[in-house]
This record gives sequence, structure tokens and C-alpha cells, in this order.
Amino acid sequence: MNKSIELKKIAVEIKKCKACIVGKSGKAVVGEGNPNARIVFVGEAPGRKEAETGRPFVGRSGQLLRSLIREIGLREEDVYITSPVKYLPNSKTPTQKDVEHGKTHLEKQLKIIAPQIIVLLGRVAALGVLGKAIVINKMHGKIIDSKYFVTFHPSAGLRFPPLKKKLLEDFKELKNALTIIF
Ligand code: URA
Repeated sequence: MNKSIELKKIAVEIKKCKACIVGKSGKAVVGEGNPNARIVFVGEAPGRKEAETGRPFVGRSGQLLRSLIREIGLREEDVYITSPVKYLPNSKTPTQKDVEHGKTHLEKQLKIIAPQIIVLLGRVAALGVLGKAIVINKMHGKIIDSKYFVTFHPSAGLRFPPLKKKLLEDFKELKNALTIIF
């Protein structure tokens, strides 16, 4: 079966999932992009704009992420963007339980896409993909296990200017790494 059809099946599974919506609201935000992407960006959970539109990273932090993607020479239509939590959490930050459940869907998406590089945008992304909490400030800006690139969530960059600077530097590092990998 082709990747696009397989991803559509997962999207249906997410939209039907009774566990995903618990403690959350809005439209399901399953993820979007190229099913054959060589690079996937993983965030945290939808914000208000995303929950209204059903699309990932379309709010303020999304605009920053999408501009960074373009700045490193990638086209939005060549990448895939998703997150471990598929609905807008009622609490500001998703709970451990939200991430533990959401990652079951995320893992299926990643298995289908099978990208060469997965960019983990912040602590929740790392928890959802690696299954463990990591200190982003220590691990950011480099490739781990030949596959994962850790950086800050763009919303952290918008809130704290020093982190935005680090985020921009990390994306430069990512660009350099991709010239070798791709
Ligand atoms: N933050 C995320 O992690 N994901 C989105 O889709 C939007 C904001």
C-alpha cells in the first residue's frame, strides 16, 4: 500500500479515537505534509489556531517554524509536520498521559513515512518520540543516534529572545547536517 493511503488510514484512526480527545477540544490535528518526506518536524500539541483549522503549526509559532524550514532551503511541501498530541489540551501543557497515548499514533505515522531525520521541537516532542525526558538546553543543535535533531519549540523562541537566537543557530546546524545526509 502506498504511504499516502496508509497515512490517511491513521488520520481516520485518530479522528475516531476516543482517548485522544479526553481533556482536549477543537478539531483533530493529525499532521500534514509529504508522505515521502525525508525529514519530519515533531511539535507538542495544537494551539488555538490549529484546533480551529485542523492544520499543524499555522499560528504564530507555526509561522516561525515554517519560515525556518524555508530558510534552510526546504520547501514546506517536501517535509511532514506533526505532533504527539492531536487535539488542543484544556491544560496549557499536555500531560504525560496525553503524550503516552498520542505517541501510539505518532509512532505509526513515523513508521509509514520512515524519514531519515526527525526534528524534535522541544521537551514534549522528545518525550513523544524517544520516550524519555531530555534537557533540551544540553542536547540541542546536534544529531542524536544518526536520526534525531533536537531543538527548542518555536513558541519558546517567541517567548524568550535568547532561545530564539539558539533556535536560529540550531537551524543553521541542521542545514549543514542535511547537506551531508541528503
Ligand atoms: N505547537 C505545536 O506543537 N503544534 C502545533 O501544531 C502548533 C503549535
